[in-house]
Amino acid sequence: MTTHPDDSFSPPVGEWYPPSPDMLNSALIKNYEQVYHESLTDVEAFWAKQAEKLDWFEPWTQVVDRSNVPFYRWYVGAKTNIAYNALDRHVKTWRKNKLALIFEGEPGDKQTYSYHKLYREVNKFANVLKSMGVKKGDRVTVYMGRIPELIMAMLACAKIGAVHSVVYGGFSEHALADRIEDAQSRVVITCDGAWLRGNIVKLKDIVDEAVRRSPIVESVIVVKRTGHEINMEQGRDYWYHDLMALPIASPICESVQMDAEDPLFILYTSGTTGKPKGILHTHGGYQVYTSTTLSWVFDLKDEDRYWCAADPGWITGHSYIVYAPLIVGATEIVYEGAPNYPYPNRWWKLVEEYSVSVLYTAPTAIRGLMRFGDAWPNRHDLSSLRLLGSVGEPINPEAWRWFYKVIGKERCPIMDTWWQTETGGFMITPLPSVPLKPGSATRPFPGIEVDVVDDKGEVCPPGTDGNLVVKGPWPGMARTIYGDPDRFVSQYWSQYKEQGWYLTGDSARRDEDGYVWVIGRNDDVIKVSGYRLGTAEVESGLVSHASVAEAAAIGVPDEVRGNVIYAYVILRAGQQPSEDLRDALKEHIRHEIGPIAVPSKIEFVTTLPKTRSGKIMRRVLRARALGQPEGDLSTLEE
Ligand code: PRX
Repeated sequence: MTTHPDDSFSPPVGEWYPPSPDMLNSALIKNYEQVYHESLTDVEAFWAKQAEKLDWFEPWTQVVDRSNVPFYRWYVGAKTNIAYNALDRHVKTWRKNKLALIFEGEPGDKQTYSYHKLYREVNKFANVLKSMGVKKGDRVTVYMGRIPELIMAMLACAKIGAVHSVVYGGFSEHALADRIEDAQSRVVITCDGAWLRGNIVKLKDIVDEAVRRSPIVESVIVVKRTGHEINMEQGRDYWYHDLMALPIASPICESVQMDAEDPLFILYTSGTTGKPKGILHTHGGYQVYTSTTLSWVFDLKDEDRYWCAADPGWITGHSYIVYAPLIVGATEIVYEGAPNYPYPNRWWKLVEEYSVSVLYTAPTAIRGLMRFGDAWPNRHDLSSLRLLGSVGEPINPEAWRWFYKVIGKERCPIMDTWWQTETGGFMITPLPSVPLKPGSATRPFPGIEVDVVDDKGEVCPPGTDGNLVVKGPWPGMARTIYGDPDRFVSQYWSQYKEQGWYLTGDSARRDEDGYVWVIGRNDDVIKVSGYRLGTAEVESGLVSHASVAEAAAIGVPDEVRGNVIYAYVILRAGQQPSEDLRDALKEHIRHEIGPIAVPSKIEFVTTLPKTRSGKIMRRVLRARALGQPEGDLSTLEE
């Protein structure tokens, strides 16, 4: 495809796809170049203008306070509440009776929530939390399946000013306990179980174990989802439906007036050490950033049916299932289960039945569904789709083309959104009017300046790999690592301290057209099926097993999952390698971290390649695993 509706347009280099005339016509932002340019001429005015679209109890006196870098403060002095913008303000308008949420459970059960109904349910639960002594600033851990109550729990916390810490339901009791401890949560919200591929994931059992390790927890609220027999500890565990039936659960609850910079949530993510970092986001800047990016990139209109297929337990779900879609007043779909259950057409059936117009997913899901062939999607009417999206890792051009042709029928542009837990929202992404190149996240969002630089900060010429950095603050940026501001500074803001740039941890290159091609992580973080894991987490998990003396983990490319983990293990004296031990180590990781961290291969070795200073040379292990040349070995210990 090499035509563009505008004759004066000069075609980009390489394979590219122009926006269709229809899309250009209907898109909210039609002239990316101009909007981008203008946004950077006065970036504070730009972010003030976007913030004015939301409701504030009191206005800001300053857009951004740069006096204590990198601890930027946005919308200084303003009072707001993100739950107010997501719910309260809509029930005062015609949107009151608009559908907010359409839920389908894996077994096929369905529920719908209008904005009014969702508002009332959230208010009721907010009152329940208050009655249990949860106050502004208290942390609440949420560990649930993908059901409406998860969204309601998060919004109820926000409403009363409590800080939610959602832990993805795929984490084990050990990982959950660590996160409860770090956040010091006295209340945990969970469900009895979650449906996955026809089986029950017994979440409450995992919570019981975690709480045994974290005595700080006083109350556990349990949503009944799967209905199987569970342990309920008297005086600690309460059924959600019992609490919601109490007179205290009134459907009226004022949203607490929060300072724009008051914390909204903590979300744990992996870094270069074994200890997960609690990324902290706040009410004010985050609501502006997520809602602006969503409405411009996915071009959401009131008649759209939007479906972000992520899990609310990750940042994609926080920003683009729970908060932004509700702030912009969208109707969204939430589906509980696996994409291929009971058959590989489940997603396409959902698209057809609910007339989904915008579908946002991850390359690993696209590749997984692509494997089943075109016949499954071709059985369904997918003509409602008008925009597609991808996130989590680089999308390989082959998967891009399949998504574009077989799912989008060459009609729907793909928004390949690059961002991170730390950035709060999309950073590098097309808008519907931007010509696309398969595999490139294209250009930075308005108000955002990024660059590709070498270790000293010199700009890399087009075609050369370098470190991806963000220049200057943005409203959706993380404010700190919970309880560890020094790590926040050292991790993200120290390499380019002089320049004041944010280090993303990704490597990337730019092409002649200024398009950004993100290559992958530059540090010891591995993306497995789009999930973020630290090599150090897997290694410390392995070393915590009694038979293991030392371990090294690396990511190795995989056709469907993007990367898988290979682990190299040195056993303690007296231990013998065996298949049983290999299985036991996999089970141990499943227990310590969760199924997503289980290595697909464990190799028993007697030495590991190390530098003279004792650092494991993962680069050498990776080369060996892939059968590639091992490169410069001059720093190898022996
Ligand atoms: O390596 C990049 C990759 O995911 C990392 C961030 O992971 P996480 O904090 O879990 O957030 C994922 C969802 C926002 C990034 O450092 N990544 C994310 N999106 C893309 C991507 N890599 C390439 N292209 C993308 N679109």
